[in-house]
Amino acid sequence: MSASTVPLVKFNNGLSIPILGLGTWQSKPGEVGKAVCDAIDIGYRHIDCAHLYLNEKEIGEAIKKKIRSGIVKREDLFITSKIWNTYHHPDWVEKAVRISLDDLQLDYLDLYLIHWPMAYKEGTDPFPEDRNGKIIYSDVDYVDTWKAMEKLVEKGLVRSIGLSNFNTKQVQRILDAAKIKPVTNQVECHPYLYQKKLFNFCKERGVTLTAYSPLGSPQRPWAKPGDINVLDTAIIKAIAAKYNKSPAQVLIRCAIDRGIVVIPKSTTRSRIAENFNVFDFKLTPTDLEQIASLDCNGRLIPQAEGREHKDHPFAHGDE
Ligand code: A2P
Repeated sequence: MSASTVPLVKFNNGLSIPILGLGTWQSKPGEVGKAVCDAIDIGYRHIDCAHLYLNEKEIGEAIKKKIRSGIVKREDLFITSKIWNTYHHPDWVEKAVRISLDDLQLDYLDLYLIHWPMAYKEGTDPFPEDRNGKIIYSDVDYVDTWKAMEKLVEKGLVRSIGLSNFNTKQVQRILDAAKIKPVTNQVECHPYLYQKKLFNFCKERGVTLTAYSPLGSPQRPWAKPGDINVLDTAIIKAIAAKYNKSPAQVLIRCAIDRGIVVIPKSTTRSRIAENFNVFDFKLTPTDLEQIASLDCNGRLIPQAEGREHKDHPFAHGDE
């Protein structure tokens, strides 16, 4: 499969994103570079990164290697990064993007997202704590962060800007203040957290949804035995058997068939290839209904350490 066969999703600014990308959260140093090289060889052109993942330097080396060897051109790639909570102050926003650009060895990002709506005390320590081990918050409003992000587009440092982990009210606040509209809201999305309301809300306003943890993030560090295992769900396994596909492929296809951009993470070459091999089948409306019936607000990534923050997107009963 060549890269050109990955369908594109058009943003509200006229630019496009490949509907399938490689996730890199929890991709370990020493593994992530090879994973990115493997993904590019297999045909991925969209790599989802973030400053907080602490692996952008190695990803940058991998991208440089693939560009130098002529496998891809910069303009064929779609690279996303995200501004971390300690860089929300408008004076810190450009500094933040320049760190990611340096690490990734790029002149521009295709997409830059506000990673979470909550601002933490400004600085390079990603989780600044007080003496009692509680995170020190900042009162910077994410709307002011957004206005500083718009300047990055004007300066040519990023092509598109967007949100991550924003609830409906927060998306609306940004839209009300924006000169440049967010192109996407990247959120946890899988059958147990189907995000019907947020998806429709964003769609009506021309904002695409991007699904992280589409496989249910089986390696999330806080998972306990007996917790939800999305890949091991009977309905998903039955649909997979019907198409002679794997549960992971059904989960990825589910997002694609809803028009949701999807970024499964893997550092295993065979799985990176498996997750890309999803363009020769399609789920029916009945399959999708069955999958949607699993929805139970089963959030697996609660971002517990920022729960008391006034801007925490889902600790206060919002969706
Ligand atoms: P690994 O990276 O060791 O291959 P999510 O994208 O929902 O966060 O899920 C990522 C997790 O799912 C990682 O632990 C990854 O393991 C695993 N994974 C990725 N692709 C597959 C697959 N096709 N089958 C099973 N597990 C997978």
